Amino acid sequence: MPGSIIAIANQKGGVGKTTTAINTAAYLAEDGASVLIVDLDPQANTTSGLGIDKHSLSQDIYHALYDETLVSTLLHQTPHGISLLPASPVLAAAEVELVDIAERERRLRKVLQQLDFDYILIDCPPSLGLLTVNALAASDYVIIPVQTEYYALEGLGQLLHTIDLVKQGLNPELEILGVVMTMHSSRTVLSNQVREEVKKHFPDKVFEGVIPRNIRVAEAPSFGQPLHVYDKRSKGAKAYKRLAKEVAGRVKK
Ligand SMILES: Nc1ncnc2c1ncn2[C@@H]1O[C@H](COP(=O)(O)OP(=O)(O)OP(=O)(O)O)[C@@H](O)[C@H]1O
Ligand SMILES: [Mg+2]
Repeated sequence: MPGSIIAIANQKGGVGKTTTAINTAAYLAEDGASVLIVDLDPQANTTSGLGIDKHSLSQDIYHALYDETLVSTLLHQTPHGISLLPASPVLAAAEVELVDIAERERRLRKVLQQLDFDYILIDCPPSLGLLTVNALAASDYVIIPVQTEYYALEGLGQLLHTIDLVKQGLNPELEILGVVMTMHSSRTVLSNQVREEVKKHFPDKVFEGVIPRNIRVAEAPSFGQPLHVYDKRSKGAKAYKRLAKEVAGRVKK
């Protein structure tokens, strides 16, 4: 039985889902937890960001969605202390094909119920389609990364609505663990205003650990490394370390 399953979701593209999944996972693992990242995005950025060539995989999460018994053969142990259930571009087909399959929203749940990790983090694609619904149906919690920019709140209503629908039908246990502000520029008035605005919408949910805009964060994936390996002294690394502590503190043990 898995410990805490956490979906990292926001249908808006480029808000820091993948970066948050990789680096939160890395710091949870550094603290001694067993951690799996599930790459549920056909872009497979988590897979490549952890140093695995997405084009070299013969099988990946896509295959496990159809046959959950395969999952143990699909796990990769990365050199960074995190396990990975990788994705590749073929996963894009699942969004369409799953529509005709029995219990289509619970495929991922079946896969993950077979695993035993302290934490499973799911990196969702930038859409509210069947893959994201599978992630929400499989999770105890959802973390919502929000980029501190003018349009930050746009689309969040739709995401919250989807979370509510999943709670009503597929997964009543689902809880929002928190909202993490990403790519924050502390020097701009706008960033601080946006954070205050988001706090108003999500009282008690916004993580204290704000992720600054930091070039080292953007560079690390091209080396296939999480920040604690690439540059643990960078501001971005310190922010993710703090966030991981908050995440560990918020989940029910
Ligand atoms: N704190 C940060 N500072 C600087 N660059 C960042 C930061 N966080 C993320 N980035 C960069 O911003 C881009 C988008 O981040 P990321 O891939 O994590 O977002 P995403 O939400 O997963 O995107 P998608 O919706 O396409 O999956 C990436 O190039 C990433 O390296
Ligand atoms: Mg991503």
